Amino acid sequence: MKKVRVFAPASIANMGCGFDVIGLALDEVGDILEITASEGDGLTITNISGVPIPEDIEMNVITPVVRSFLRKIGQKAQIDVVICEKIYPGSGIGSSAASSAAAAYGMNELFGCPLSDEEVVVCAMEGENLASGGYHADNAAPAVMGGIVLIRGYEPLDLIQLPVPGNFYCAVVHPHIVVSTKEAREILPKAVPMHDAVRQWGNVGGLVAGLCTGNIKLIGHSMQDFVAEPYRKQFIPGFDELRKKILATGALAMNISGSGPSVFALCDHKAIADASGKILKEHFDAMGTGCEVYVVKVSNKGAKLTHLTI
Ligand code: HSE
Repeated sequence: MKKVRVFAPASIANMGCGFDVIGLALDEVGDILEITASEGDGLTITNISGVPIPEDIEMNVITPVVRSFLRKIGQKAQIDVVICEKIYPGSGIGSSAASSAAAAYGMNELFGCPLSDEEVVVCAMEGENLASGGYHADNAAPAVMGGIVLIRGYEPLDLIQLPVPGNFYCAVVHPHIVVSTKEAREILPKAVPMHDAVRQWGNVGGLVAGLCTGNIKLIGHSMQDFVAEPYRKQFIPGFDELRKKILATGALAMNISGSGPSVFALCDHKAIADASGKILKEHFDAMGTGCEVYVVKVSNKGAKLTHLTI
């Protein structure tokens, strides 16, 4: 019998312009799983985190991740998973990706690391597909690898870790509005007008160049989304006015976090992130929506073992 205790961090997908191709990992906040492998053929999942998640094992993102891992390595085993700590589902900081990444990374460690980082992320994407109806890696890749990750291609998966400027913080607000990732993906048009596509890939290039050269102004300036935000911001009351107030604090950018409804401000000083967090909270309180706010550092750390027994 082998057992691991594994952590995978929260994450923010898209970074504005990078729909489905850029995501970042957050510090300290995340999921913790204990995974035991023994002889046999089966899967159990026990949730002791106190966070409500579907009881049906077929609806749990961990299930397709574990199955796809075992299929990939061509082995059978009895796998028992305990969810010890869990990000609230729908909080907009990659709750399903944190579980999926922890499960994929933990399974790989348990079986002697037969898979590459890319292959681990491919397994984690099975969980994302169950949660959102799409194989996107922009939460799962940073949750496995840490830092800011560019998904240069999906076929095959090609992941590029980008430099994280020091002292980057995100103020994230989770307003109490329910918008599922599935719904937020389904409202997007299937085709992007050429004019918008040109602006979007210009910004993706600008964001990558800004990160690689440490050009902070260019990073903020490039985080504009012409592809998803115009359709998704209707779910977030007062989005445009909120952005004006946030940018006035000195924040580099404000965007929808992944598919929303959470919103984040990227800041290069903790004090600016704190001020942005305050404005985000005031905005949704004034709307009568209710919300939670987190101010978290962007992290270079991805999934990791916190304990191992053999
Ligand atoms: N890139 C995905 C989307 C992230 O925007 O739908 C979901 O968190």
